[in-house]
Amino acid sequence: MFPRRILGLALLAVSATASPLNPRQDAPAALDWESLAVLTKAADATVQSIIKGKDDIFAGEPRGVAHAVRQLMAPFVWPNSTYYHDESILPLVDEMLDALVRLQFDDGLYSVGNRHSPPDTGFLIDDYSILVRILEKDDHAGSQGRANIIRKMLEKAAPGMWGGIHTPNHRWKLCGALAHISKITGNETHVRRIDQWLAEKIDIDADGIYSERSPIYYGAVTNPGLISVAHELGRPELRSYVRRNLELIIEHASHIGEIETIISRRQDQRQSPGVNLPDSYPHFREMALEDKNGRFAAMARLTEKLAPSKLGDYLANLIERPELAAVLPASEEPFVDFDKHYNTVRLVRARKGKLTTSVFGGTDWYTADGEQSPFFNRFGSGLSTNPTIFRAWNGEAVLDAIRMLPNFFTMGHFRSSGLQYDKETGVTKLGNVFEVPYFLPMEPEHLQADGVYDLSRATPDGRFYAMLDFENRPKSLRRLQTDVTVSPTTAGYDLEFEVTGEEDVEVMFELTFRTNGTFTNGTTTTTTGSSYETFHLVNGTGTYTFGKDSITFGSGLGKGVILGGAGEQYSWMNGKLELVGDQVLITGKTPLKYTLSLGFH
Ligand SMILES: *[C@@H]1O[C@H](CO)[C@@H](O)[C@H](O)[C@H]1NC(C)=O
Ligand SMILES: *[C@@H]1O[C@H](CO)[C@@H](O)[C@H](O)[C@H]1NC(C)=O
Ligand SMILES: *[C@@H]1O[C@H](CO)[C@@H](O)[C@H](O)[C@H]1NC(C)=O
Ligand SMILES: *[C@@H]1O[C@H](CO)[C@@H](O)[C@H](O)[C@H]1NC(C)=O
Ligand SMILES: *[C@@H]1O[C@H](CO)[C@@H](O)[C@H](O)[C@H]1NC(C)=O
Repeated sequence: MFPRRILGLALLAVSATASPLNPRQDAPAALDWESLAVLTKAADATVQSIIKGKDDIFAGEPRGVAHAVRQLMAPFVWPNSTYYHDESILPLVDEMLDALVRLQFDDGLYSVGNRHSPPDTGFLIDDYSILVRILEKDDHAGSQGRANIIRKMLEKAAPGMWGGIHTPNHRWKLCGALAHISKITGNETHVRRIDQWLAEKIDIDADGIYSERSPIYYGAVTNPGLISVAHELGRPELRSYVRRNLELIIEHASHIGEIETIISRRQDQRQSPGVNLPDSYPHFREMALEDKNGRFAAMARLTEKLAPSKLGDYLANLIERPELAAVLPASEEPFVDFDKHYNTVRLVRARKGKLTTSVFGGTDWYTADGEQSPFFNRFGSGLSTNPTIFRAWNGEAVLDAIRMLPNFFTMGHFRSSGLQYDKETGVTKLGNVFEVPYFLPMEPEHLQADGVYDLSRATPDGRFYAMLDFENRPKSLRRLQTDVTVSPTTAGYDLEFEVTGEEDVEVMFELTFRTNGTFTNGTTTTTTGSSYETFHLVNGTGTYTFGKDSITFGSGLGKGVILGGAGEQYSWMNGKLELVGDQVLITGKTPLKYTLSLGFH
């Protein structure tokens, strides 16, 4: 698809710049060979997978192609790599550069999903700026010419980086890209644009949570954007936001390297299991060195231990900025016992030994005052909607979610309209009231002679639309109230549910556990057509075991009705709102007073 063009660069003369191996002015006295070995091994493995997967990369978007060039060239300039100055990878690199030159529009931008996208082009600029620098310093005859091609694309992209955005983090992406371009090209005009975005102020709360509340964007976009501006333009004050967010990540991470995502307003609110620390690796490293912070150093080392294969990309960062390859300070334990209420997001986190828990009551369906918000019963990018109310990491045994689903007018899962935390007792209270209307005839002043009524607004409960002018109708309400009290016990936590109001409403509790554990006691299997195992806990207490850690749960509430349906907005178009994992279901009926006891062993 992408015809190969001989770039004819190999014969270009190179200036006598230092190779990354030779200590330069900014290189630290001692390099962190322990870390570099991890990064080098991962980077070398990536070269193999790029060679194997090159057709997919070319079939994909330019962002992936640019990233692949970085992933190939970092080992190429790195003396410790098995691909150091290995000319067999250069034809593939040239094929990729050729494609990137052709795919760049006249306005300097690339289409990456979004057409002519400034923020997405920003990702290519990050890679280009690293590539320009590491290739210009490399002493292989072919490096300088390739650096020139990349430098041209970077310069050409500059006007495009003055374009627009869709999301909060995009602003910091553009600022970072403009900072690189400004420094590399020496054009200081770009700083004006950066300052326009920065004048909007950084969207971070006192706890260190950026407004999208999403670990993906903390690590992959916002922190790197701010650090790029701080580093390129000498704005050290921007590092204070990153520092605050890294402290938050420590509090929101578990021992197995998963940063909490239930609060997220972005796609990671889906709670896909897995280590999501690697994006933050370079920032923990940089701030550990800058602050001599042993806890940050421990987080970088933990990431090397938990996800070494995901760190290959950062070899390029350390080659570009050798000061980041300095030996980290000694580790200090980052995971101390604590409990904390994050007020803006209505989340309580607690850690005690190997047990870390989250209690969540802060979706965007409700305002901070507990009122229905304009987003009530809506789902969408940028909104927090995850109905998980409790999570626990007990060593390696993970209870990914407790959710409650009442069979009440397809309103979907229970979501709390607030959160109260008592620091003295460690007790958290959640609750909500569903008030679902039936609509009565309109008063004469609202009647239309042609019988045509407004379709534009959903019902106030957000369930459906009709040409019925709901706003101007009297209503009669059906009501369901849920109160939840989460209390620490000697064995773990008790979740006391009280569901009142409408009677005979079936209620289902969903407990989702990480796959590959084993269930014993108190469980009977049912088939639900899901690819995961589903158990219905009818009686007694069940146990989930993963490795040497276990979680007990119960007791069962009898043979009730298994419910489905995530709410009208979701189910209407076949949405499921299911988590990855094995589920235990507990079923009951209102009026309900039920204590779900959890034990962690
Ligand atoms: C990397 O290369 C340098 C210089 O050849 C050598 O001193 C060092 O031990 C190597 N480190 C690793 C981890 O291979
Ligand atoms: C510097 O950047 C500005 C803004 O994109 C542009 O108008 C100007 O032409 C650039 N200057 C040079 C010398 O390239
Ligand atoms: C479960 O085991 C399978 C097969 O060994 C493995 O591929 C998968 O990653 C495991 N999942 C988890 C969450 O450990
Ligand atoms: C199962 O239940 C029995 C009887 O209550 C108890 O002795 C045993 O420890 C339980 N096993 C597990 C794995 O929880
Ligand atoms: C649960 O099991 C216990 C002990 O086997 C028994 O006494 C009780 O009746 C059972 N309850 C239900 C609801 O089946």
